[in-house]
Amino acid sequence: MPRPLIYIALILVSLSLVPMACVVVNWTNPVKTNTRIQVVPDMDNQPKFKAQSVNPFFADGRSARAWPEGTVPRGLLENEGPFYHGIEADSSFTTEFPVPVTEALLNRGQERYDIYCATCHGLGGAGDGMIARRADKLAQGTWTPPTDLAAQPVIDRQHGYLYNVIANGVRNMPAYGHQIPPQDRWAIVAYVRALQRARTATMDDVPEENRRTLR
Ligand code: HEC
Repeated sequence: MPRPLIYIALILVSLSLVPMACVVVNWTNPVKTNTRIQVVPDMDNQPKFKAQSVNPFFADGRSARAWPEGTVPRGLLENEGPFYHGIEADSSFTTEFPVPVTEALLNRGQERYDIYCATCHGLGGAGDGMIARRADKLAQGTWTPPTDLAAQPVIDRQHGYLYNVIANGVRNMPAYGHQIPPQDRWAIVAYVRALQRARTATMDDVPEENRRTLR
């Protein structure tokens, strides 16, 4: 091989090592002051103050400003009160309805219950909704049956507990808080109470004059 060709080959080989060398230098250098080379910079570099940095514009030198008085952070407005959480200030479940229990509320509760809960718990709350029946039929063995809502343990629960089951789910039951707003959750709780009354009623609960009409 002619000598010049060997020299050229050597130069090319050494040049090909340069990118790798750059990478190694970058890796081993613990203090990086300049940003990486960016082919498409997008909006990566913007004039802004990073967290905890100094801003000479303000007298106190802080770039992070205190919130103006009365500011409510997004999502935190609904932070207080039994109406939103079903929980009292002492962390116990609410035992009183924080909304007036009216016929309109119960009707609304029935409508919402039939939409959101009856699929599993059944229209009467006995745990015999369409989904439960279908799962029983499939008999795959992994199914947790929906609780009978007129079972004594559920009757004994506080209103706030039931509210929380709707909002956050419980064990194998999914949460419905993102689909059912607070007012409607209370409407459903009220309706579940009505279902419980209806399912545990005895002849004594029926007014005297209506008893004859019952079969
Ligand atoms: C996808 C089916 C499904 C839907 C829809 C559903 N539930 Fe449930 N629910 C369950 C299952 C399953 C359980 C039992 C969970 C367990 O024990 O693991 C349960 C349990 C409960 C309990 C008993 C909680 C306890 O502590 O024992 C209540 C009360 C309840 N559900 C109310 C509701 C209400 C009100 C709705 C409508 C907003 C609703 N559920 C919608 C499946 C469902």
